[in-house]
Amino acid sequence: MTELRNVSVEELSEPVTFPVEAYLSADYARAEADRLWARVWQHAGRVEEIPEVGDYLTYNIGRDSILIVRTAPDRIKAYHNVCSHRGRQLIDTPPDSNGVAGHRKLFLCGFHAWRYDLDGNCTFKLDEQDWKGMLSDERTHLAEVQVDTWGGWLFINMDPQAMPLREFLEPAAGILDPFQFEKMRYKWRQWVIFDCNWKTAIEAFMEPYHVEGTHPQLVAYGNTYAWSKAYGRHGVSGFQERDAKLQMDQANTITRAGKGGDPRVSTYQLQNEIYTTVNQASTTETLVNAARRLVDELPEGTPAPEVIRHWLARARADDAARGVIWPDITPEQMAKAGLAWAVFPNMSILQGITFALCYRARPYGDDPNRCIFESYAIERFPPQAEPKPQWVYAEPSAGKWGKVLAQDFSNMAAVQRGMHSRGFRGTLPNAHQERKVTNFHRNLAEYMGRGAVRLLTPAAGGTNTFGKQR
Ligand code: FES
Ligand SMILES: [Fe+2]
Repeated sequence: MTELRNVSVEELSEPVTFPVEAYLSADYARAEADRLWARVWQHAGRVEEIPEVGDYLTYNIGRDSILIVRTAPDRIKAYHNVCSHRGRQLIDTPPDSNGVAGHRKLFLCGFHAWRYDLDGNCTFKLDEQDWKGMLSDERTHLAEVQVDTWGGWLFINMDPQAMPLREFLEPAAGILDPFQFEKMRYKWRQWVIFDCNWKTAIEAFMEPYHVEGTHPQLVAYGNTYAWSKAYGRHGVSGFQERDAKLQMDQANTITRAGKGGDPRVSTYQLQNEIYTTVNQASTTETLVNAARRLVDELPEGTPAPEVIRHWLARARADDAARGVIWPDITPEQMAKAGLAWAVFPNMSILQGITFALCYRARPYGDDPNRCIFESYAIERFPPQAEPKPQWVYAEPSAGKWGKVLAQDFSNMAAVQRGMHSRGFRGTLPNAHQERKVTNFHRNLAEYMGRGAVRLLTPAAGGTNTFGKQR
């Protein structure tokens, strides 16, 4: 393989391009299974899904299926979901389910009744004497997969040589730790199949540059110009004023004053619009209600930073009164954490003080033109009031997902189809606002050994190098 000539992180501030093969090629999708998915830490669920010893869930990625089990109050293990006898999947994972969860004292294979305990030991083989002593424990133990947790998420890695999870997630994990995602619980979770590559889907949530084109109604409520920044494998974006003089730190997060002459009014209008059109996510009921009261609690002419301070203090008190305690996050930590993170390779987190809206996209088998897409909201709830929603398959309509996500979804198949066009000369990502996307491809290329991100040169208009291979 020729040496990969990828741009450096610093060069991502210059206009770059990357080939579209990564989205379109069946050969690339097959290679991805080995070079990417078999090697990376990937988010496979939430710890809250397996609270009791014996609770398990399955996580499918491409053609692999992983079984994650709580084996002790303080211990979680993961295995390849396959019986060591003749390879039946141990836990059935029907295609119309988005992973399977349940509770077992042991795992019984449905083919020839071999049994496994929670620790993966094969404890019963029918007629074991027929193997004449060759069925050692090592030979019959379930094949282990690395598993670890961060922020209440379960991560798995099929590569026994992989670096530790924490190292893989840094510096994103350190910057996001103050939000204590492990204290949040699912509010809702939905999934859907899209006719596009998993990268096409997840990248739609990597940049706010698309807001003016895709969500034009939101422009009335807040500016959508954005900065974006690469942090190693990961990246973050935040809102920004085109005129730097107008920028204030709080304004790059989701809790900002909105647009208009009176920040008491615009803060509420923005929050309310987000809450009602982003499927009761991206903010909380507490924040919306506290924003609604701003016109009564503050005099006309109160400057925006003061409005934000007052609003957040009141919302914090409202939440405390119902048993939801906010973490202490300094304004500096808040500003640095920005609006939304792309955690390599396929996880997106849009965070607030007590909530997060998350996305995950995965390949559909090895079909480059389909993917499994999921979105879920997590939030801090009062003790004993935590909902326990399951995965719901939801058609990509505004009725099921809210207006904003349905607008995002309307681009998915159209982008995929467009990139197949002979007339598409190659990607031209925005060097300032879409750096999460370009940094993602820079990292992807390192894993794949192909698909380098290159500087755009004045001469080259960009060519669809993928050409007729599709
Ligand atoms: S394949 Fe599982 S017992 Fe035979
Ligand atoms: Fe969007």
